[in-house]
Amino acid sequence: MPVHVIADTAQKLATLRAMLDGHHAVTSELLSGTNKRCSGSDAVVVTADLRVVENIAALKETFGKLGHVGKRIFLIDQKERLYTVQAYALGATRVLISPVKQANLLAQLVDRKPCETSPKDAFDGAREAAQAGAIAIGAMFSAVLSGKPIDVRGAKGAAGGIADNIAEDGLSSWLETVRRHHEGTYQHCLLVTGIAVDFGLSLGMAKRDIERLYSAAMFHDIGKAKIPLAILDKPGRLDAEERAQIETHPAAGYDVLRGNTSISPEILDAVRHHHEFLDGSGYPDALCDASISDIVRVLTISDIFSALIEQRPYKPTMPREQAYEIVRGMRGKLEMPLVAAFRDVALNR
Ligand SMILES: [Fe+2]
Ligand SMILES: [Fe+2]
Repeated sequence: MPVHVIADTAQKLATLRAMLDGHHAVTSELLSGTNKRCSGSDAVVVTADLRVVENIAALKETFGKLGHVGKRIFLIDQKERLYTVQAYALGATRVLISPVKQANLLAQLVDRKPCETSPKDAFDGAREAAQAGAIAIGAMFSAVLSGKPIDVRGAKGAAGGIADNIAEDGLSSWLETVRRHHEGTYQHCLLVTGIAVDFGLSLGMAKRDIERLYSAAMFHDIGKAKIPLAILDKPGRLDAEERAQIETHPAAGYDVLRGNTSISPEILDAVRHHHEFLDGSGYPDALCDASISDIVRVLTISDIFSALIEQRPYKPTMPREQAYEIVRGMRGKLEMPLVAAFRDVALNR
């Protein structure tokens, strides 16, 4: 496959070339250079310091000419998660956190077909909605990290776009698109939002409740912005201390959002309580039965199912049937008539 690599330093360029040469037909350019030879490539791989204004401007110009390239993979520094939103805003279809293993990068390039640019189909709509959603989620995480106000309207608008896409094209193309193009917590939030919307639609919920549901889904894990990536992205089991830290995220999200007048009490409640279970074994408040609202019950089922079917670099994607069986096995914790109603969403839609 012809691959074009772009970097802001000669050293980064050489490293990238060394990873890809021998596997792909590689062309390359320095961001500051004048020798642009990207025509005919199926994929572009970029590594550059996105804090540098000149790099952003140069990438915008380069990407303006790369509309035909289906794969635009960015490698960004793991300490700088703020870069992720910038990468998606520049048109990334995939963001990998560096240092990246060669096998990982090659897998991203080889295993997936380039995105269709025409004719326009369900995947195009899903891709646009997912990209807007990823940008909104990234902006929220950036705001939390930097102590700036959260763009609630922007996030709700992006979630509304996701809801429109699900209503129009169904859940399956959404799941496939999000898992193909998005990573980690962003992927999770996009999946939960899509699944919650589809669940709400299948239940015949009123438009207003669907709006509450997708907003709650977009915001539900915002407290994870406070958790180190090393814990969020850790392959395998967490130890007790790491688990305790993860379990702070619902209350942290609640604290971040509670002063915001654009966030309704129902959404705030869903953010705080999406890890509560009917038998009182959840967190952070060990709520039971009637004190868990309907919207939270729907969100929790969507959240658990999403986490099971996520695409992670270190584990294969769990089939939807197997994930549903696990949800169905959580008797006592989840509302079983709701879980039964969820079957069609999980398996067929
Ligand atoms: Fe969560
Ligand atoms: Fe979640």
